Amino acid sequence: MNFKNELNKIAEEAFQKAGFDPKYGKVTVSNRPDLCEYQCNGALAAAKEYHTAPIKIAEAIAPYFLENGAFSKAEAVAPGFINLDLSTAFLADFAAGMADSPKFGMELPAPRRILLDYGGPNVAKPLHIGHLRTAIIGESVKRILRYTGNEVIGDIHLGDWGLQFGLIIEELRDRRPELPYFNPEFTGEYPKTAPFTLSELEEIYPAASARSKTDEAFMARAHERTFLLQKEDPATVALWKHIMALSIPDEKRLYDYLDVHFELWRGESDAAPAVPEVVSIVKDKGLARVSEGALIVDVMEESDKREVPPCIILKSDGAALYQTTDLGTIILRMREFDPDMMIYVTDKRQELHFTQVFRVARKAGIVRPETELVHIGYGTMNGKDGKPFKTRAGGVMRLESLISEVEEAVREKMRERYDDEELNEDTVRLVALAAIKYGDLSNQAAKDYNFDIDRFASFEGNTGPYILYTIVRIRSILKKAGREEIVPGDLSVLRNAAPGCKELLKVLAGFTDMMDEAAGDLAPHKICSYIYQLSDAFNSFYHETPILREEDDALRNGYLSLLALVKCVLEDCIDMLGFSAPEKM
Ligand code: ARG
Repeated sequence: MNFKNELNKIAEEAFQKAGFDPKYGKVTVSNRPDLCEYQCNGALAAAKEYHTAPIKIAEAIAPYFLENGAFSKAEAVAPGFINLDLSTAFLADFAAGMADSPKFGMELPAPRRILLDYGGPNVAKPLHIGHLRTAIIGESVKRILRYTGNEVIGDIHLGDWGLQFGLIIEELRDRRPELPYFNPEFTGEYPKTAPFTLSELEEIYPAASARSKTDEAFMARAHERTFLLQKEDPATVALWKHIMALSIPDEKRLYDYLDVHFELWRGESDAAPAVPEVVSIVKDKGLARVSEGALIVDVMEESDKREVPPCIILKSDGAALYQTTDLGTIILRMREFDPDMMIYVTDKRQELHFTQVFRVARKAGIVRPETELVHIGYGTMNGKDGKPFKTRAGGVMRLESLISEVEEAVREKMRERYDDEELNEDTVRLVALAAIKYGDLSNQAAKDYNFDIDRFASFEGNTGPYILYTIVRIRSILKKAGREEIVPGDLSVLRNAAPGCKELLKVLAGFTDMMDEAAGDLAPHKICSYIYQLSDAFNSFYHETPILREEDDALRNGYLSLLALVKCVLEDCIDMLGFSAPEKM
């Protein structure tokens, strides 16, 4: 039920019937849409093998393209192209087939178990816009892979073991030396509740971080404290737990708002017990060497065009690094889940880190040879002016503030359309979420993009709200007609429908091909451009076709089934992007 395969099959048959090797039978979307919809260039390639003029071959083959009715036109043109137009009848039948099959006829590959590592916020810092892309892209990749039949386990992999804790705790020590955590004589039980609130914590961290930039002694203490945490010093661990208990619920709340959900809330700290194992594996396999006191593994390969520095496993003071906890995490994930694939979604600036980690994991046999390791590196989200996104005051924008700004922009657009009483806050939320997510996902992940609130929140153009508006519009037409289900048989009537309808059927037929690419390349932006095209095709069809006033009952039912099918495809697509449509807008 893959549209492109179906067309290629017809092309292969045409070559075979005309006495040529079927391998030349391939069709592609026409690069001259003014002349034809599809084209076949096989005759040009076959000419060499058969020592015949390409136009002669094209002329011999063209009639066979018309045999099964898929094409309404097959024209041989110089020097040897075959120009093809699809028949509306074929498209109508194809749509009926889509409507009748699960997932619109997608052929699903063998299911795999996939561990998806995304989100990855560093605990103790409020979520800021730097956390947005991994959450949005990761959630969408998860949903795409699930839609295509895989088992996907999402792990947030919290940054809960790093220097930020050393900084916070040492800053706290200077401010509140009287706390029992800082009294070496203290032997009792540490208090159950934190000695600070979340907002105090949110003030302490940036203060400590700024101080560490100029105060070397303070920075040294912070490192020492981080090391104590890794060594599980009781007072440090007690404070760490307080920080975690305050931060995590707040993060959960924001991820819930974003409709981003993790199966596992593990973190770097969970990998700590596996760190000694990482060390002994690389030592036992003879992969490690000591350089300037640090334990390192060389990972440079002959084919590398650029220098790939060694992966540091332990620093000279014995401290584990980001790479080490990632390797430990892989050991634990293999043991617990034995996934076929692990995917990491982070800023593309972490590419080298993952190259090193993946290479050590392979060399050390921490993963199976067939375990696929993938890093999706995304670009920077810039402001409207193309410069890194900042608050008006020039600081890093909190995710919460960004969301409120987008909501306000959406509210404003909605006020232009509705009375105040009709302004529904649930709708504002859904539209804002679509604006944010679509604005991000419609760009290829690896590219930088400009976050333009006004454009993203617009109800027109290539935006999330436009897609939602299209869905809501279709729903209301169907409701008005009192006929909301898809009747596959009704779609066949559309074989005689008007040209606007053909365009819509054509876009619809491309769903499975598009999904193969989106899932194969882990590329949500392909779904975005598809639904934009589908929405446009629907809107022009709707504009030129009086559906509800159609007097021929059979045709009217055909149109309504077509609309219902378009709606279902759009709904599945936006669900894969991670948002949904409101009832009204
Ligand atoms: N916490 C990291 C950061 O903020 C991202 C974690 C990504 N996942 C991983 N397994 N390294 O950069």
